Amino acid sequence: MAIQPASHEVAERVERRWAMVVLIIVTVLVAMVVYTGLHWAMMPPSRVETVRPETLHISGEFVESNLGSAVEPDGSVTVRIVAQQYSFTPQCLVVPAGVPVTFRATSSDVIHGFLITDTNINSMLEPGYVSTFKTTFNAPGDHTMPCHEYCGTGHQNMWAHVKVIDRAEFMQMADQLPANSRRLSCVH
Ligand code: CUA
Repeated sequence: MAIQPASHEVAERVERRWAMVVLIIVTVLVAMVVYTGLHWAMMPPSRVETVRPETLHISGEFVESNLGSAVEPDGSVTVRIVAQQYSFTPQCLVVPAGVPVTFRATSSDVIHGFLITDTNINSMLEPGYVSTFKTTFNAPGDHTMPCHEYCGTGHQNMWAHVKVIDRAEFMQMADQLPANSRRLSCVH
């Protein structure tokens, strides 16, 4: 009866091999999470920030006059956006190249998608929650910002533009803002 120990050995060898495969897969996945976290600033959602969708337009950070790009005291830029069926406000964003940019966005009605082409920004905008992303655009250029989450019959027409311009040009535009307006956008 040489068959019993042989099949037992085979089973052990196969199990050990599969355990190694699983170990390698887990190691690769953990390495990917660490790498993207450190190098692309892609973080798993670690914080939840809520906002009341029914009063967005009345008070707080997402009132219409506060939407668009704002230069912070530390020189970074914050962009605030509201998504609604079927557009983004503002419809055209302007941001500087080579400067850390924080996007803060939410939805006033249903779930929308938020994606900026050629960047690490790709998420959802949910009513009641604020989505925050940080990125730095390396070079001037135009990006599109389509809603990529089905949100109703007008979904396919819902998209905006992101214009990345030279840092000096952006700061000059920011300096020339009238006293009653603190936000930049390329909507005319
Ligand atoms: Cu908004 Cu699809």
